[in-house]
Amino acid sequence: MSKPVKGFSKLSKEEKITWLSEHYFADKEKGVDILKKYWNRDERLQQLHDEFIENTISNYYLPLGIAPNFLINNKLYTIPMAIEESSVVAAASRAAKFWMDRGGFHAEVIATEKIGQVHFIYTGDPQKLRQFFIRIKPTLFSSLEDLTANMRKRGGGITGIELVDKTQALEHYYQLHCTFETLDAMGANFINSCLERLAEVLQEEADAYSDFSDDEKDIQVVMSILSNYVPNCRVRAEVRCPISELNEDPELTPSSFAKKFVQAVAIANAEPFRAVTHNKGIMNGIDAVVLATGNDFRAVEAGIHAYASRDGQYRSLSKAEIKEDEFIFSIEIPLALGTVGGLTNLHPLVKLSLEILDYPGAKDLMQIVAVAGLAQNFAAVRSLITTGIQKGHMKMHLLNILNQLEASKEEKTHFTSYFKDKVVTHRDVTRAVEEYRAQQG
Ligand code: MEV
Repeated sequence: MSKPVKGFSKLSKEEKITWLSEHYFADKEKGVDILKKYWNRDERLQQLHDEFIENTISNYYLPLGIAPNFLINNKLYTIPMAIEESSVVAAASRAAKFWMDRGGFHAEVIATEKIGQVHFIYTGDPQKLRQFFIRIKPTLFSSLEDLTANMRKRGGGITGIELVDKTQALEHYYQLHCTFETLDAMGANFINSCLERLAEVLQEEADAYSDFSDDEKDIQVVMSILSNYVPNCRVRAEVRCPISELNEDPELTPSSFAKKFVQAVAIANAEPFRAVTHNKGIMNGIDAVVLATGNDFRAVEAGIHAYASRDGQYRSLSKAEIKEDEFIFSIEIPLALGTVGGLTNLHPLVKLSLEILDYPGAKDLMQIVAVAGLAQNFAAVRSLITTGIQKGHMKMHLLNILNQLEASKEEKTHFTSYFKDKVVTHRDVTRAVEEYRAQQG
């Protein structure tokens, strides 16, 4: 059993692994061997990965796949996707091809405003605080000049600082609510540095403000941090085509397909239990591209789900409608992404993913990511309202089991055909493979 450990971070990587194996691995040699199998032979590359986080003991691989044939605003893309779930890349590729033949995806960035807040407690007269804020606002802006100089040169920077009275929500709670334009950077470091500076200046200025009583001078900054909720950093993507071109399923007419599709999305909009799964399918596409391009998928997830609940109920992120004879399917989501800074400058596979995407700026990447989400959603809903999703999943499930059983290429071909019309269970596949191998001698 594990015991508390002191000074763990100071141990070398080898020492950490030894500690781990002594405390946790039944078969120490095997455990250590697995960890080391995933080390990169290129020591410099391994060191790069070691230094991304703390206490690194190995690398955790995710497959990087590509989905070609994405026509977005008349430009053809191959989209890199890092994801562990089978069928996602295949579904994206199929949806891409389907829409490529119908004019492709159209996407537009609606706004690019990022947000950060200084959260503070002030117990004095609210009117005096408002006066104080008006007086110090120019000082707050000028205090950031050195920090924002580079960003301003390129057309970004801090775009607004407002005092927000939140005392209705929480006693004595106020904010400096700040807005930023961070161009091709996700901007987390930039925003947080600005906010911490603003917090300092706020307190210094309060201390020196002669209209404040001693108590009022004592503004308590609780924290200064960017918000991952960016409803004004938003992108929209859509596909549309005449209903007659939705010749998708032999058992449904194009018109029934369109109506059923619209109904399925309406259900996700009306029913949170379905909405969560519906949006999860969208996130299959979004997260995979966000990860492949070295962006922060937790930030993206948190922000998007908050947006899905913006009217108080968790709803579908996508919308499907029939207008006259046209089928229109769209998505609108907040996305704070970067194509410079952070991992984008460090991780060789991220750099390669950005090269595959023809070096997008943040706005291009927002469009690509939204399209990947929409494509994934189209593929999932299409399967759900026609064949059901298990057919495709079972094929991949079968391949996973065959891989576990170390099946040869011939065996894979044989069993893919054998299980075509059968239910795939681990037991049945194992049994069938054993019998087949016994027969083959
Ligand atoms: C599975 O990863 C995603 C789906 O469940 C999404 C959906 O139900 O729309 C297929």
